[in-house]
Amino acid sequence: MNTAARALTLSPIVAGLWRMAEWGLDVPGRIRWIEQALDLGITSFDHADIYGGYTVEALFGEALAAAPGLRQRLQIATKCGIKLVSAQRPAHAIKSYDSGRAHVLASVDASLRALRTDRIDLLLLHRPDLLLDPDELADTLRLLLAAGKVLHFGVSNHSPGQLNVLRKRHPLATHQIEFSPLQMQALADGTLEQCVDLGLRPMIWSPLGGGRLLSGQDEQARRVRGALAELGARHGGASAATLACAWILRHPSRPIPITGSGRIEGLREAVAALDIRLSTEDWYRVWQASMGREVA
Ligand SMILES: NC(=O)c1ccc[n+]([C@@H]2O[C@H](COP(=O)([O-])OP(=O)(O)OC[C@H]3O[C@@H](n4cnc5c(N)ncnc54)[C@H](OP(=O)(O)O)[C@@H]3O)[C@@H](O)[C@H]2O)c1
Repeated sequence: MNTAARALTLSPIVAGLWRMAEWGLDVPGRIRWIEQALDLGITSFDHADIYGGYTVEALFGEALAAAPGLRQRLQIATKCGIKLVSAQRPAHAIKSYDSGRAHVLASVDASLRALRTDRIDLLLLHRPDLLLDPDELADTLRLLLAAGKVLHFGVSNHSPGQLNVLRKRHPLATHQIEFSPLQMQALADGTLEQCVDLGLRPMIWSPLGGGRLLSGQDEQARRVRGALAELGARHGGASAATLACAWILRHPSRPIPITGSGRIEGLREAVAALDIRLSTEDWYRVWQASMGREVA
């Protein structure tokens, strides 16, 4: 039994910080934003070392340092494994992946410093490393767990086979994947099936297709918006953003959407989805709008 999966607690909606550097919030503004998210029941915050060109963790960490009571009220997820070419990391000559011990340990230490915390609740391997040595990574994770620097480990953007290779060597708490009414590959390639099979609740990135679902002018986005508007009329005027999250939440893998909105109203729209359970037919209406055809 996967004990890490049992013990990890994330809020049912997670706030994603990928775009935080664009929000232009000063330290009091960041504290207020985090507190408002907490008031909405969003207690988990999704980072990666690379967000904002290696700057977002430090923006968040500044807020935590200025309001020390916050840390104990929230969970921090962050990621490692992608090396960007950046002035912040002059040693990186090309963009590459690295799951080797030296990089993972250095990355976790850098994240802890930037976040001004002594522990990361959930560490994810951001992308599958083509040169992965799974035994070495499992050993590295055991070191991090023993040191108390990382409490749970998971992966992101892995195929079912890649996830299995790691799962055999170390408990995985989640799989963070892209899934939305505009991106349904995880329904077709075995990814969500595997989550159901293993009882591994997936974290869902870009639940609004990065905003395309609401503002995209392509045919697919228009069709999906049309279908969601129809559902909205039958669900108390719920917004397209709320219904997109409700559509994700309807999957039996019990997904955890990560909203990427910087607006508190955007967070509120995501949380509102928790009160909506779509009928099977309504779920398939959105699927049909996305695919542009009915099921076989
Ligand atoms: N593991 C991975 O590889 C991976 C990859 C990508 C992302 N992620 C994680 O997933 C999180 C969410 O991803 P995402 O930011 O792409 O999520 P998203 O929720 O699909 O997209 C958020 C974007 O949509 C915009 N948006 C929201 N409501 C809108 C509206 N009514 N009209 C127009 N635009 C609207 C937001 O702008 P406003 O701020 O104005 O609301 C924001 O720019 C990230 O923060 C990150 O933590 C992980």
